[in-house]
Amino acid sequence: MEKIVILTGAGISAESGLGTFRDEGGLWSQHRIEDVATPDGFARNPQLVQEFYNARRQQAATAKPNPAHVALARLQAEWPGEVILVTQNVDALHEKGGAQDVLHMHGTLAGALCAGCGHRWTAPDTMRVGELCPACGAGGGRPDVVWFGEIPYFMDQIYAHLGAADLFAAIGTSGNVYPAAGFVQEAAMAGAHTIELNLDPSEVVSNFAETRFGPASKTVPAWVDELLRR
Ligand code: APR
Repeated sequence: MEKIVILTGAGISAESGLGTFRDEGGLWSQHRIEDVATPDGFARNPQLVQEFYNARRQQAATAKPNPAHVALARLQAEWPGEVILVTQNVDALHEKGGAQDVLHMHGTLAGALCAGCGHRWTAPDTMRVGELCPACGAGGGRPDVVWFGEIPYFMDQIYAHLGAADLFAAIGTSGNVYPAAGFVQEAAMAGAHTIELNLDPSEVVSNFAETRFGPASKTVPAWVDELLRR
């Protein structure tokens, strides 16, 4: 049965009230990436970085999944073949919508990482500068989020899934950031049908065989209904 691989970005969580990065008024118009999403930024001003992620963690904690998240969970539950969900998002809305085994390639707001020993634990609502690591006791606690210049997680698994995909969908991502923006080409080389579901054309829209424009809360449930009616 067909294997489906799905990549999601901030756009799928927009209608749940979580800001995107590059839309009008997005997160990168409020903060400089180099100040809040790089290891240098954290070294320079850990307070600013902890506060940036504390605010996002607290906002994400109360956000609700929208019909797009719920539809993808239904697809996972009802599709007879494999449905692999890869997300660039650090919120937990896929899981809140019922999805399983989501591959968070950019980490999660709920996770904490020790910059010293690599230990991971569940982040407190508010992380402080010098957050103590429960394993090594040092004060290197940071959000377990992949910053620019760092290696995204699960890449070997993701490329293996893309190489075996029959259908690849990118949902709510602008195609500005690699390696995620290159996944469509990997899937197409493996012979997959490729579809982009987005509010506006992404930077890599020309690499997709099919495109559907509109808000994810409308386009994704309709797309899932079509697949499950096949
Ligand atoms: N429905 C569908 N798509 C939407 C919606 C919506 N309601 N609202 C916005 N979008 C689309 C926009 O058109 C845009 O193409 O979502 C995309 C959001 O793009 P970005 O803000 O660039 O977010 P994303 O692609 O996830 O960014 C990738 O960049 O900064 C890093 O690590 C960060 O994971 C992030 C990565």
